[in-house]
Amino acid sequence: MFVLPIAAVVCLLGTSSEAATLRSAAHGRVHIGTAAKPGFISEDGRYATTLAREFDQLEPENEMKWSLLRPARDRFDFAAADELVRFAKQNGMLVRGHTLLWYQAVPKWLGEGQWTWNDLSQLMANHIQTVVRHFAGSVYAWDVVNEAFHPDGSLRSSIWYDSPGTGVGGPYGYIERAFVLAHAADPRAKLFYNDYAFEGGGPKFEAILAMARDFKKRGVPINGIGFQCHFTLNSIPAATLQKNMRAFTDLGLEVHITELDVRLPVDGTGHATPQDLERQAQMYGEVVRACLAVRGCSAIQVWGFSDARSWIPRFFSGQGAGTLFDQEFRPKPAYRLVLDLLTGAAAAR
Ligand code: G3I
Repeated sequence: MFVLPIAAVVCLLGTSSEAATLRSAAHGRVHIGTAAKPGFISEDGRYATTLAREFDQLEPENEMKWSLLRPARDRFDFAAADELVRFAKQNGMLVRGHTLLWYQAVPKWLGEGQWTWNDLSQLMANHIQTVVRHFAGSVYAWDVVNEAFHPDGSLRSSIWYDSPGTGVGGPYGYIERAFVLAHAADPRAKLFYNDYAFEGGGPKFEAILAMARDFKKRGVPINGIGFQCHFTLNSIPAATLQKNMRAFTDLGLEVHITELDVRLPVDGTGHATPQDLERQAQMYGEVVRACLAVRGCSAIQVWGFSDARSWIPRFFSGQGAGTLFDQEFRPKPAYRLVLDLLTGAAAAR
């Protein structure tokens, strides 16, 4: 009988378990990304190791927003964002840029300034040109405009929309202009519109779809739609997610899942019940299945990957545990299901 030496068995086992990461399982089918923060990389080895091992794409959670990138009217500070880009390059990861225009994260000097139409128009153009050119060749896809619609489908109030607005006219004034400016600054970058609470349909979904149709029809340079996917156990639109992604891919657009998490009720130490963690796994699974089923859904990105480092507890009291890894960076049931689904998809290719 032929018996493998123990060293060979260990080696084989080692090889197969080394291959079992999200990024290796997803390779060639979708990009698997996460929001990331440079401070966490430098202060926590487990954070940096898990980030590089599991993901092939990262997106600065805050460092490319106006408030951090542009501390004063005439000063850009690229240091923190550049650090993330460097980490991504060193580890063979793509970078998504987030975000060129948003109603939040507006620096004080901008939000409280007195501006004319001309001032705002120039500020916006100069910002988009400077930032997109700075990251050209490093950022492969931008969230050009983030969260521009109200739940009822009307356009949301923001410095860019109201005061007095920097549009080129037409129903989507400033949004359209932002896409045109970003495309001129880096014609190779993929340009996305990104939003939340529209994934399951409704007036906001209809409004974004109408805008996407209009942009495609008139040749406004848009490449995709970001489905944020910040969910709770009760808010996953499992039945409509695929269909709603297809509404955009049918227009020739890509879809990215951009900010996936599923927050849970937690106890005083931030832990959820085992039952909720199992239900959470199913919810993550629904989103991954939907993306894998839709040709044109090309990235699945989570909004942070460890419960120790997630934005959720700071924003939702009594909730947390929304990510794929627990507070000790151990994989949760959701991680295992996502990995299995990605592995299955990769094997079926
Ligand atoms: O940098 C300051 C720091 O100097 C200060 O000491 C500290 C005190 O609170 O605040 C720090 O800024 C915080 C920033 O995160 C960086 O950590 C802001 O207060 C805080 O509001 C900000 O929160 C971010 C939020 O967007 C607003 O920009 C979250 O981390 C980030 O996860 C969240 O991400 C958004 C996406 O961009 C868009 N979609 C929804 C998603 C979740 O809200």
